[in-house]
Amino acid sequence: MCGIVGYLGPKQAAPILLDGLRRLEYRGYDSAGLAVRDGAGDPVVVRAKGRLRILAEKTNGGDALPGNIGIGHTRWATHGEPSEANAHPHISLDASVVGVHNGIIENYQELREKLINNGYTYYSQTDTEVAVNLVDYYLKKYKVGPIDALAKTMVRVRGTYALAVMFRDFPGEIYAARKDSPLIIGQGENEMFLASDVPAILDRTRDVYYMGNLEMARVRQDGVTFFDLNGDAVPKPLTHIEWDAAAAEKGEFEHFMMKEIHEQPRAVSDTLHSFLRGGQEEAGIDLSDIGLPDERLKEFDSVLFVACGSAYHVGMIGQYVLEDLAGIPVRVELASEFRYRNLPVLPKTLCVVISQSGETADSLAALREAKARGLTTLGIVNVIGSSIARESDHVMHTLAGPEIAVATTKAFSAQLIACYILSIAMGRARGNLTDGAASQLTKELCALPGKIERSLEDKERIQWFATKFSGHRDAFFIGRGLDYVACMEGSLKMKEISYVHSEAYAAGELKHGTISLIEEGTLVVCVMTQSELFPKTLSNAMEVQSRGGYLMGLTSYGNYSLEDTADFVVYTPKTDPHFTVSLSIIPLQLMAYYVAVAKGVDIDKPRNLAKSVTVE
Ligand code: AGP
Repeated sequence: MCGIVGYLGPKQAAPILLDGLRRLEYRGYDSAGLAVRDGAGDPVVVRAKGRLRILAEKTNGGDALPGNIGIGHTRWATHGEPSEANAHPHISLDASVVGVHNGIIENYQELREKLINNGYTYYSQTDTEVAVNLVDYYLKKYKVGPIDALAKTMVRVRGTYALAVMFRDFPGEIYAARKDSPLIIGQGENEMFLASDVPAILDRTRDVYYMGNLEMARVRQDGVTFFDLNGDAVPKPLTHIEWDAAAAEKGEFEHFMMKEIHEQPRAVSDTLHSFLRGGQEEAGIDLSDIGLPDERLKEFDSVLFVACGSAYHVGMIGQYVLEDLAGIPVRVELASEFRYRNLPVLPKTLCVVISQSGETADSLAALREAKARGLTTLGIVNVIGSSIARESDHVMHTLAGPEIAVATTKAFSAQLIACYILSIAMGRARGNLTDGAASQLTKELCALPGKIERSLEDKERIQWFATKFSGHRDAFFIGRGLDYVACMEGSLKMKEISYVHSEAYAAGELKHGTISLIEEGTLVVCVMTQSELFPKTLSNAMEVQSRGGYLMGLTSYGNYSLEDTADFVVYTPKTDPHFTVSLSIIPLQLMAYYVAVAKGVDIDKPRNLAKSVTVE
């Protein structure tokens, strides 16, 4: 969702802001804008509907905007249609305040009317214009400085926000405020940056401050000061980002998604080794570094996974694996449902919140709800310093590196590893797994990166098949058990990037209604990696085929009998049955990718979607 960048330093700001916005494009947007000021002059604001290219053309790549301090924004419409008028930055009535905003001001209608009664008028339909005018209102009403005006605004508004604001009477400074939407401050040599996410500034600095909730910042060229709501200074550590700028570039690949698909062996291996004692396979899994040694793990009597989208699918896989390996009752809830449900939970429940971004609004709210109910929380998070990482009692960081494509691939695979590790550790702690069984499973985990590598080798065949079927309007994915969850994730990938309608069905459920949709040529992808379930799912595949369905089978090497039934078969290496989704998901990701390539759609930034969903 919306992206924010800011710059103060010796260089011309606008080209740097445009470059930063380009690196935040993956978050999703429909319009963009810049506000740049030259010394103490008034900020010049330029906005454009549509792609960043249009804003770049309007400003001659930024060169047409002189000045070395400024803010930029990509907007993902919430209040008001995508248009130039609604694009940020927004300017207060007499242009004293200019700001950009990520998030939603829930009580903006009420505030809008209050300000109208005080003489304010509006040119846009946005909640942001209201917020900017509210800052201006407090500035003038109480004759206070920017920090006090921002603090009063923060107390008055309800909702979520990351705000970056310039004040006409305070040249050389950018102010920021944050609640629930991410914002970081980067420190370079004699220059400072603001951004919604690290990739926006990674090629300029790797030293960042993470703003905390309900905090404000005053940024000058020579540094930043953070404040709490009382206006008291807040000390904050500078964090050095380990990723390098290349991690956030496409390199030799045409799309970030393909690059990230290929980064999966690495993401899996790095994540896995970070939870092995001393990084050594033989030394076994150890979660004491994150405060969950075996003695602590055995205190829980149930586990609750909460997440959204693909991360929810990881939770479903976690449920199957954890129940089986640790013999502990597990529930999985969609974060957007959990927060509005009065779900009875046992007090000794470990609530696991899974999120790549660590900023998903529903997942964050669910985490807070779980904490309010007294549960111990564990975040499985990719983005270091994100809200979910900071607010969880314990954190398993997935080491997937920056994931830019909207459709998750490598973060999904790394999250799976975290769930497997938790399952083995809990199984051992609860006495459900012997040390020998735990180490056998760990050994198998260590073999996964190589097996993922091997699964990637079949991509030309998958491309051929996907291209052939790219004109199809519908696809069905069927499977049982863990294969069914792989189907759900494969179907989501297909929908989100290739815009092909697809449904995932538990294979045994098909004949309870959905089979009526199967007709001559309907594409059905049948996932059958679980040897115990193979004969059952094979019968379902035959039912589909006898009704004219065109069958793609996905199974493990060795199950060659599937060739007799399916029209096209893809094989993945064999692994322990608990871990098969780590391999079966690879062809499904490739399939969705190649269908999207054949359709010529925007793979890394699918329509209507945002990488980090920071609104409800
Ligand atoms: C997956 O490809 C999606 N883009 C989406 O479902 C995503 O997994 C979901 O929005 C959750 O995001 P998170 O992991 O950052 O919380």
